[in-house]
Amino acid sequence: MRLKLDNLSVVYPASDGRPPVAALSEINLVIEDAEFVVALGASGCGKSTLLNLIAGFLSPTSGQLTLDGRPVSGPGADRAVVFQKHALLPWLNVLDNVAFGLQIQGVAKAERYATANRLVGLLGLDGFQKSPVYKLSGGMQQRVGIARALTCDPKLLLMDEPLGALDALTREKAQELILNIWHETHKSVFFITHSVEEALFMGTKLIVMSPRPGRITHSFDLPFSRQFLGGMPARAVKASPEFIKLREDVLKIIFADEEAAA
Ligand SMILES: Nc1ncnc2c1ncn2[C@@H]1O[C@H](COP(=O)(O)OP(=O)(O)O)[C@@H](O)[C@H]1O
Ligand SMILES: [Mg+2]
Repeated sequence: MRLKLDNLSVVYPASDGRPPVAALSEINLVIEDAEFVVALGASGCGKSTLLNLIAGFLSPTSGQLTLDGRPVSGPGADRAVVFQKHALLPWLNVLDNVAFGLQIQGVAKAERYATANRLVGLLGLDGFQKSPVYKLSGGMQQRVGIARALTCDPKLLLMDEPLGALDALTREKAQELILNIWHETHKSVFFITHSVEEALFMGTKLIVMSPRPGRITHSFDLPFSRQFLGGMPARAVKASPEFIKLREDVLKIIFADEEAAA
């Protein structure tokens, strides 16, 4: 798969007496097969707008968005979204939540439970198939949300601050789990965060955005997730001199943007 954004812009029209908002301007980006692209930036710089464009929930004001050479004109099963608020059905158990999307698509019962069971195992939730999701911790609920997004076997997984609501320790575990799943499934990922450390650890490519209008100001190729997947412990990756140097460089960029905007 290859997703390509050419000179995209989004302007939200004026409404209720508020002026129009230039949410994104001159966005050029390519997401290749099995790439893990992370978008980082202050709130309001257009990260969610960018994700909504890629998901097909929103059309650009100008510019072009193509997936494998074909224009993206709406949502599709080739792209799946994991939200920060997991949008689960609290009264259903884990297995039924994961199988829910397949049920809507009309997949037969035996097949949808087979798929759901496989993904429940992949996300480390074996043994919890019959637990109602309202009884689970936030981290486990988020894993159910990811399992559900994977049921349609999307080429591209879109995640908007999926770990933002988790405590620090759970969040680090969830980062490792997502990297392992990415590695096993060979999906492409577009991942939003405003944690610099998370961005550097997870991505193969980092885009740094700045607001008013939302633009991509910097782009970096990253080696760290591959170091982790190659067997280096996560804490050792995050504590390496190379990681710390880049973390400070990226923080400087973001602080400079905030001061310029203030
Ligand atoms: N539906 C909307 N209508 C008008 N303005 C919007 C809408 N959604 C977002 N915005 C504005 O567009 C800008 C980018 O928002 P968003 O994409 O949510 O940024 P981020 O996810 O980086 O915080 C912000 O100034 C926000 O207030
Ligand atoms: Mg957002």
